[in-house]
Amino acid sequence: MKHAIWVFFLALLTSCAQLGNKDFALPQKVTFNQHVASIIHHNCTPCHRKDGGAPFQMLSYHDVVKRAKMIKAVTADRYMPPWPADPDYRSFVGERYLTEREIAILDKWIEDGSEEGDDEPPTPPVFPTGSMFGKPDLVVSFRDSVRIDGNNLDHFMVMKVPFEIPQDTFIRLIEFVPGNRELVHHMNGHLLNYDFDKKADVFEGSHVVRDVDGSTLETYYALSVANDDGSFPTLTPSVSNYLPGVLPAIYPKGIGAYSVSQKAAFLIKNMHYGPAPKEAYDQSYFNVFYADAPPQRPLKEWMLGTLGISEVQPALVVPPDTIMTVETNFKVPQDVSLLTINPHMHLIGRSFKAWATTPDGEEIALISIPKWDFRWQYFYTFHQMLKIPKGSVIHAEGIYDNTLENPNNPYDPPKMVIEPVNRDMKTTDEMFQFIITYLPYQTGDENISLEPDSSLFKY
Ligand code: HEC
Repeated sequence: MKHAIWVFFLALLTSCAQLGNKDFALPQKVTFNQHVASIIHHNCTPCHRKDGGAPFQMLSYHDVVKRAKMIKAVTADRYMPPWPADPDYRSFVGERYLTEREIAILDKWIEDGSEEGDDEPPTPPVFPTGSMFGKPDLVVSFRDSVRIDGNNLDHFMVMKVPFEIPQDTFIRLIEFVPGNRELVHHMNGHLLNYDFDKKADVFEGSHVVRDVDGSTLETYYALSVANDDGSFPTLTPSVSNYLPGVLPAIYPKGIGAYSVSQKAAFLIKNMHYGPAPKEAYDQSYFNVFYADAPPQRPLKEWMLGTLGISEVQPALVVPPDTIMTVETNFKVPQDVSLLTINPHMHLIGRSFKAWATTPDGEEIALISIPKWDFRWQYFYTFHQMLKIPKGSVIHAEGIYDNTLENPNNPYDPPKMVIEPVNRDMKTTDEMFQFIITYLPYQTGDENISLEPDSSLFKY
């Protein structure tokens, strides 16, 4: 069973070797059992299943045939499976996209009458219920369920999820489990560690600030994040990130483990709930798995752009009916190895591209997102650690579209959209951020694979 699932994930990772090659032959007659089921099972079912986060299941012939036309439409324009990064520019762990041939097979299946076929139906993939990694050492849940207003709008929130444990220890892995799988869309979580004497009550203050994205001092005060003397606890960034269908970050042993204090909290800076037609609630939780040793190489993070270490130029002020390009540049102060990157923009973002230029003038491709989709903000992990030499400049470039051509424009007619600097970030404000998880470079890093370690899967 474990083996079967592992093979299934490997298939997901490697499913698309021949994109762009239109020189392929199609079967004479396409049937579900013989050709279509395996494409659906590998590329769609991880999300389109019970508790998978997508709105309907796609396992059996009957699930799929009744939506055949819609499936054709969403695969032809590459809306599904959602993978905004251009795989020809840079390929990442866990990427999911269809080859031209797979899209053509789905298309021909409909042309051929969408038949089930006489072959044995393939066995649908099996997914775990509960944790992917066995029994957690600790479960940390939201204290109260969070109300999501039923007004058909996206909601972004900032939250604190405090906890106390018997002693300081180390965390190997954190798995976020959404309570309301239909509405939880993405979550980016950080870890706060308190010195025992500096915070009498980690549970005080509100636990949720609504309709903001990204914390500023205002949200920190509302959530009572600070120590009792007003100083701030230690923040370990990006310890847990969630999107439907995505595995948590699992780095090689010794990398990416975290120290955790007796008094601690998860700080969720970006909690995105999708639109709800009527009032709904969510009580999500974290499964925490301890490590037996301290992290040998603790992860580090740079945040470029808005609220970060490099300026956005020109200032992110996008007048109505305007398309505008901004950039940010950061000079790498030492040899580093990159592990994971996360571009972040809001609704009027149109495209995102980042690369590094070494002191020798060599260009290292990082990521290209030709069609930005704020719903799919992945943390993209490189297949191997990627060395960026000292003195290289990391460039990130974003295009914003504040016209009505942009279907995600929240205003009709378009309004001035800005990046607020000294107040909380509303979803309708804009951001331009590029978050980079890295380590100081060590010889041989470029040979270290970042594919998830299969021995951790416990089912
Ligand atoms: C990573 C998770 C994920 C994968 C993989 C995925 N979907 Fe989806 N799908 C979703 C979610 C979530 C939605 C709900 C709409 C949204 O959030 O964009 C959705 C919506 C849809 C819709 C409805 C679109 C609409 O306009 O209402 C169709 C059809 C669909 N998916 C087909 C597919 C097919 C076919 C595949 C595989 C080739 C696939 N999906 C793979 C998550 C996924």
